[in-house]
Amino acid sequence: MTHRRPLIAGNWKMHQNVAATSALIEGLLAEDLGGEVDAVVCPPFTSLPHAAMLLTGSKIGLGAQNCHWENSGAFTGEIAPAMLVELGIQWVIVGHSERRTIFGESDITAARRAKAAQEAGLAVIYCVGETLEQRQAEKTFSILETQMAGVADLDPTKLVVAYEPVWAIGTGQTATADQAQEAHAFLRRRLEGFFSSDADALRILYGGSMKPGNAAELVGMPDVDGGLIGGASLDVGSFSAIIRASADCAVGD
Ligand code: 13P
Repeated sequence: MTHRRPLIAGNWKMHQNVAATSALIEGLLAEDLGGEVDAVVCPPFTSLPHAAMLLTGSKIGLGAQNCHWENSGAFTGEIAPAMLVELGIQWVIVGHSERRTIFGESDITAARRAKAAQEAGLAVIYCVGETLEQRQAEKTFSILETQMAGVADLDPTKLVVAYEPVWAIGTGQTATADQAQEAHAFLRRRLEGFFSSDADALRILYGGSMKPGNAAELVGMPDVDGGLIGGASLDVGSFSAIIRASADCAVGD
């Protein structure tokens, strides 16, 4: 089995103006973030140029929280992948459940965004996850299967999948390590169907109330290769503690 280096990504959502971005990034840069782990922060669009400047030459990667599928045009309020690349950004989150439930993102538009982002050179964090209602109706795997359909067309070398059960996001209610592993193993099998042996190297992140106290247990599961962190990524102490707890947790050779 391939060793998958853990990845911890902070989704700042609609938090952190430019001043708060500076403080948070400067705090993270002053921390010892451990060895065998990758860290990425995803501030809001208005903070990205400043974040890019602060992170130049550092080991912390930079991501955006969304992008459009065209590189220019009459798309009021949207941001093109090439505009992110111009700032030196390497990552973009696509298909987050808040985009899906609040802003009408569909599996089709999420897949288009992801494809265009990769074509522009960005690595994609592609989010999937079921609601509480869907879990209770035992539809978790069929929902994940549907949400994953667009992934088949993507480049596996520039792809990370994030499993974010909607019922665990911002609720303080985390999936158990076994629940996370079960969903991640299912997602890995889907990825194997799309990319055969290349799926083994692909990282699948868990997102939903991951905190310093549960990170090591979750990332210690065989198919959990890191986390996509919301609330706990807004604090230097808790985000850096999650990063350190995840270092060396990946299972494999
Ligand atoms: P919380 O960590 O705040 O639950 O958010 C998870 C999330 O939505 C990350 O994208």
